[in-house]
Amino acid sequence: MTYVVKDNCIACKYTDCVEVCPVDCFYEGENMLVIHPDECIDCGVCEPECPADAIRPDTDPGAEEWVEFNRKYSEIWPVIVTKKDQLPSAAEMDGKPGKMEIFSEAPGEGG
Ligand code: SF4
Ligand code: F3S
Repeated sequence: MTYVVKDNCIACKYTDCVEVCPVDCFYEGENMLVIHPDECIDCGVCEPECPADAIRPDTDPGAEEWVEFNRKYSEIWPVIVTKKDQLPSAAEMDGKPGKMEIFSEAPGEGG
C-alpha cells in the first residue's frame, strides 16, 4: 500500500506534505510533487496536511494509474524534504479541472 499525489497538486505545490513525512519519500517536479510508492510506509499523516486535497490512498478507485505515475516521476525527480512557498498560481488553480494539460515533466529543484 502507498499514498499517491494526484493532479490537483499541479500548479499549486503547497509542499506542506513534505514536512510531515517520516521517510522523506516526496520528489519534486517543476509544478507538482509525487510519492515513491516503494518508499511510502502508508502512515497517512501527509493526507490531511495537503490544502489542495491532492494526496489519496491507493485504495481509492482508479488509483492504480496514479501509483505508476508517482513511481515514474519519483525515479527521475529530486527528493524534497523542506517546505517552500507554494507556486504563485496556487490559490487560483486549486480545484481547477484539466490540470494534466499543464503538467510539466521537468524536475524541480528539490531540497
Ligand atoms: Fe510519507 Fe506517510 Fe505520506 Fe507515505 S503516507 S508519503 S510515508 S507521510
Ligand atoms: Fe502538492 Fe498538496 Fe503536497 S498541493 S505539494 S501534495 S501539500
